[in-house]
Amino acid sequence: MLEISNLVCRYGKVEAIKGISLSIKKGQLVALIGANGAGKSTTLRSISGVLSPTSGRIMFEGQDIARCSAREILMRGIAHCPEGRRIFPDMTVEENLDMGAYLRSDIEGMNADKDRIFTQFPRLAERRRQVAGTMSGGEQQMLAIGRAIMSRPKLVMFDEPSLGLAPNIVEQVFEIIDGIRQAGTTVLMVEQNAYSALDLCDHAYLMEAGSIVLSGKGSELIDNDHIRQAYLGG
Ligand SMILES: Nc1ncnc2c1ncn2[C@@H]1O[C@H](COP(=O)(O)OP(=O)(O)OP(=O)(O)O)[C@@H](O)[C@H]1O
Ligand SMILES: [Mg+2]
Repeated sequence: MLEISNLVCRYGKVEAIKGISLSIKKGQLVALIGANGAGKSTTLRSISGVLSPTSGRIMFEGQDIARCSAREILMRGIAHCPEGRRIFPDMTVEENLDMGAYLRSDIEGMNADKDRIFTQFPRLAERRRQVAGTMSGGEQQMLAIGRAIMSRPKLVMFDEPSLGLAPNIVEQVFEIIDGIRQAGTTVLMVEQNAYSALDLCDHAYLMEAGSIVLSGKGSELIDNDHIRQAYLGG
């Protein structure tokens, strides 16, 4: 479904991504792990078109999207739930969800998806008219996830969905992401919580300093010595 080859991204003179290649098959949950500054968020930003890559190819369903605008990439079916729960704080919960579907015109389908999200996240249903900025961190994260899936994406990307959440909420968020995959949506997830990510995913990539240094099945990487020592605490 997604095939990245030799992708290079620069911020001015800094080369944040140094020629990475990775692929995601339809229906998979793929995890991207690595230390702070490794280039994980930059990778997601270049896929979603927020950032224009310096060189390389990003093939999505057989077409190169590396030079497409963020809007066009969303229209093709890739949604991005960015780092740090960037919801619209002054809008209500429901308005935030509607914003996630701003490119859609099938009102009935949108309402059905919204109802499904409210069933899945009862907290959001109770707070549908609450101003989003006044919700707790965990509630805002659920809203950010809900908003991303309101575009009915083929591929959804989550950047550190568990960041700053209490352990029981973290578990809930991972269950929700697993549910999104089980419903047939392909998922690319960036996570600091390496153990949970490797446990949940079909396939994982490890990034270090702008390069992919390891990849394999999640279960294989959990047993890898380097990963154990550097990311799983021995
Ligand atoms: N807007 C920017 N301008 C300049 N440098 C940037 C910018 N955004 C990121 N970088 C640099 O690019 C590198 C990769 O950053 P990126 O945010 O992709 O890392 P990350 O793997 O997501 O890290 P973290 O786990 O801390 O979120 C870092 O060295 C960072 O300082
Ligand atoms: Mg990041």
